[in-house]
Amino acid sequence: MEKKDLIIRIAGQGGEGVISIGDFIAAACARAGQEVTTYKTFPAEIKGGYAMYQVRTSLDRIFNPGDAFDVLCAFNGEAFTKNQHLLVPGTAVVYDYPGGDFEPEIPPGVYPYPIPMSRMAGELKASRSKNMVALGALSHLFNINEETLIEVLSKKFRSKGQEVLEFNLTAFTKGKALAQELVKNDPWRMADPVAPKDVIILSGNSAIGLGAVLGGLQFFSAYPITPATEIAKFVAKHIPKVSGVLIQAEDEIASISQILGASYGGKRAMTATSGPGLALMSEMLGMATMSETPVLVVDVQRGGPATGLPTKHEQSDLFLAVHGSHGDAPRIVLSVEDVNDCIHMTIDALNLAERYQCPVILLSDGSLAFSTQTVAAPDLDTIPIIDRKRWDGEGEFNRYVITPDGISPMADPGTPGAMHVATGLEHGPSGAPNQSAANHEAMHAKRFGKLKTVVDVFKPVEVDGAGEADMGIIAWGSTIGVVREAVARLRDEGFRVKGFYPKLIHPMPVSQYEDFAKTCRSILVPEVNYQGQLSYLIRAETTLSPISFTICGGSPFTPIQIMHKVKEIVSCP
Ligand code: COA
Repeated sequence: MEKKDLIIRIAGQGGEGVISIGDFIAAACARAGQEVTTYKTFPAEIKGGYAMYQVRTSLDRIFNPGDAFDVLCAFNGEAFTKNQHLLVPGTAVVYDYPGGDFEPEIPPGVYPYPIPMSRMAGELKASRSKNMVALGALSHLFNINEETLIEVLSKKFRSKGQEVLEFNLTAFTKGKALAQELVKNDPWRMADPVAPKDVIILSGNSAIGLGAVLGGLQFFSAYPITPATEIAKFVAKHIPKVSGVLIQAEDEIASISQILGASYGGKRAMTATSGPGLALMSEMLGMATMSETPVLVVDVQRGGPATGLPTKHEQSDLFLAVHGSHGDAPRIVLSVEDVNDCIHMTIDALNLAERYQCPVILLSDGSLAFSTQTVAAPDLDTIPIIDRKRWDGEGEFNRYVITPDGISPMADPGTPGAMHVATGLEHGPSGAPNQSAANHEAMHAKRFGKLKTVVDVFKPVEVDGAGEADMGIIAWGSTIGVVREAVARLRDEGFRVKGFYPKLIHPMPVSQYEDFAKTCRSILVPEVNYQGQLSYLIRAETTLSPISFTICGGSPFTPIQIMHKVKEIVSCP
């Protein structure tokens, strides 16, 4: 397959401004009309530890941050050493030399560009500006549009004061001049700017916040936790524009309790957390199921259990999301693939919660949380808003009346003639406690039964490819974007492969899994957790016997890893 993209990895120490220059490059590329996908990883410490930012850009559609880089920019010896094994012939490396903390051995066939970043920042008496020296050099060497870079970095640093802006602009220019002294031999350069498309560039977390505000959210309560906090930060800034309210609660139990209260009061309500927070919320999730109260809980998964790997990527809360409950407590679980999904599936999730009067858990993950991608600007005139079924004032109001579709009308507290009881006790149709065997069974059947139509209402899966295949790959969450590319590249090499991408995780769309499996000789389920959690659920609920392929080192899969695994199993075409 001809390479049409460019991947730049910037690596250094937390506090050196690695993340900032990655963001500047991503924003500049988006303004230059390119597709952008990024991946960043940083330490749990505020200063120190390894930080990395990978930017992939292309004029064509891209689904993930790519396998490995074409260009490495190493801020220090640790960053160089950690990436040395990826410096294969043909790659380029820009590194802090002379005057940095290391003297690298450049592998044969690699294009070296020594730039004295620390020394120049020292000469400018502005150690913070080391990253801008690097950015100036990168801009010149790899054709990153200087005009747009200056625009985005000026916007950022102007807010920090004129002096900060000036030393950074000087550092940028000096970095460019240092690069101009070098001879460029490598083939890597960004495509020239094209007409900008009607796109926005957003992180997964900001996109969930945007989806929430566009989706009619009226009340948000959360307790900060990495990597979910930016959702609350986005919502805090924008929810006043739609007359909504945000509260930072004292902990996760309080935040879910508050959204249940708000929803009982008739408002669209949500919270956002990560695994440890979701664990704390499990009692109130049971309450939401029992009281049939619509709420949305976003779980941005991170490495666990306990504090685990708080800033790293993992897909290991699936069991908790689907079954983490006391009693039999059905809920809807969705998972997002990319930033576009983060916008639109947050809207869907709010609608599903209202429609089915139940908790909905939307799973994102650490990689997507901070990944920035270009997405089409949402069309504000076509946002679907589905409200809960409301009592029409006719006849007697019974909050939990058994209906053919299992969904009973709700009434806001204070509605004349409607006593809206929300109770954790098992109850009869009126809401009054009823612990008879027959009633408990009937109410379980109601709460589970109403979710049977979710698969018809929400497009639950996407199948990538037609006809018979030797290998079918089932992927969920942000792993989907990696598998999409692996499937395309394997097909180019002549392999018969297909993809199956469920966005509705639970209730499981069983017949769709089985129909897909009928067309594949074997099924592979790659996921970033130790136990192979989706594989396990598939075995439990369908007749499939998938091959589980798991990694859990704190990073997402790359397309090449998936391709190697498929080639291990399926013989060459
Ligand atoms: N001149 C002036 N300011 C600069 C600069 C420059 N040349 N380059 C960067 N900065 C500023 C950035 O604007 C940013 O300030 P802001 O927060 O006001 O936007 C700040 O310095 C940090 O720079 P940034 O590039 O964003 O990050 P970094 O690459 O230096 O890495 C962190 C540092 C912030 C990512 C990282 O160490 C961190 O926060 N880790 C997370 C810890 C965590 O979440 N722990 C959770 C445990 S549960």
